[in-house]
Amino acid sequence: MRTQVAIVGAGPAGLLLSHLLDRAGVESVIVETRSREYVEARIRAGILEQSTVDLLRAAGLGERLDREGDVHRGIHLQWPGHRHHVDFVDLVGRTVTVYGQTEVTKDLGRARDAAGQQIVYEVADTAVHDIETDRPYVTFIGPDGRPDRLDADVVVGCDGSFGPCRRAMPDPSVWERVYPYSWLGILADVAPSTDELIYAWHPDGFALHSMRSSTVSRLYLQVPAGTEVETWSDDRIWEALATRLGHGENGWTLTPGPITEKSVLPMRSFVQEPLRHGRLFLAGDAAHIVPPTGAKGLNLAVADVALLAPALAALLRDKNPELADAYSDTALRRVWRCTHFSWWMTTMLHTSADPFDTQLQLSQLRWVAASTAGATGLAENYAGLPFGY
Ligand code: PHB
Repeated sequence: MRTQVAIVGAGPAGLLLSHLLDRAGVESVIVETRSREYVEARIRAGILEQSTVDLLRAAGLGERLDREGDVHRGIHLQWPGHRHHVDFVDLVGRTVTVYGQTEVTKDLGRARDAAGQQIVYEVADTAVHDIETDRPYVTFIGPDGRPDRLDADVVVGCDGSFGPCRRAMPDPSVWERVYPYSWLGILADVAPSTDELIYAWHPDGFALHSMRSSTVSRLYLQVPAGTEVETWSDDRIWEALATRLGHGENGWTLTPGPITEKSVLPMRSFVQEPLRHGRLFLAGDAAHIVPPTGAKGLNLAVADVALLAPALAALLRDKNPELADAYSDTALRRVWRCTHFSWWMTTMLHTSADPFDTQLQLSQLRWVAASTAGATGLAENYAGLPFGY
């Protein structure tokens, strides 16, 4: 097989990249280790920044998003005895939209089907070769069990932090922070007990009330790293959520319901630089992981791709390497902004055993709630800086 851009990974980054390249007249083929069913069912993020929504709309992917996405003005920030609404519209004139990554992936999948995009699912042993030449290629074992090869002008790794592409980068710089806690996440078939997300600091640990629709709630609890999901019964989960989210305070109640999914998510920050070597580029989780507290992971992947698609179109179509040469440095500015914001939200809201940290966290929360300057910083980062920041 031969194509212009070989994309490794059919998650949101890889699918969106192929979509934007196609619209710019550049051809691509995607290879993916998982099955399409697995990729489309994988439960991940749920919050889209304004820039992400604008980009999806401009790319012709906004129809169901506009119909089913739930636009939020802000978030509730809470600690015992206090619940404060941070209004992004008032503060920075931007909104966020609740629309699951599963739905974004399905919309992208349908759009790629309609365009006749070639995606090879269920490949194994993917490897990239000759990235320092202008004839790089990808080898893999196809779904039929036979070795195969995809020749290209450029290879893009959208294959997450466990994929082969970032490992093919020679001498990268790597930064990592592993946090001593995880999130226990549930999906429940019950109407959300809140209009907008509640981020709650509590002495027992952080809790988050999010949602997927008017009938499906998504909630999280801070648990120690290494927690086994089996140690948390449904009753124990709802009890901890009720305590941490303040059930019964100021007339607010949490309505429990049937739990349909339960899992533990480890939390870490990770950045690998540069995002390009020769003809190999990285986008999304292949180059950076953020803890989920700021809802940045998917949005950051979209921001990478928003830069990379025009850069590759200019390189391959117009033989202009300027944007491709600038891609890594330009993308990393936003990556580090989001890495800092996600770390900041995480360390402000997750309890530790250190009483000094506790006082700093409560002071930070009071400042964000009381000061327009404090709240604006949170709002600007959460609702998302415009692309090109
Ligand atoms: C989610 O709905 O899954 C979600 C929302 C906000 C976050 C993280 C996850 O910060």
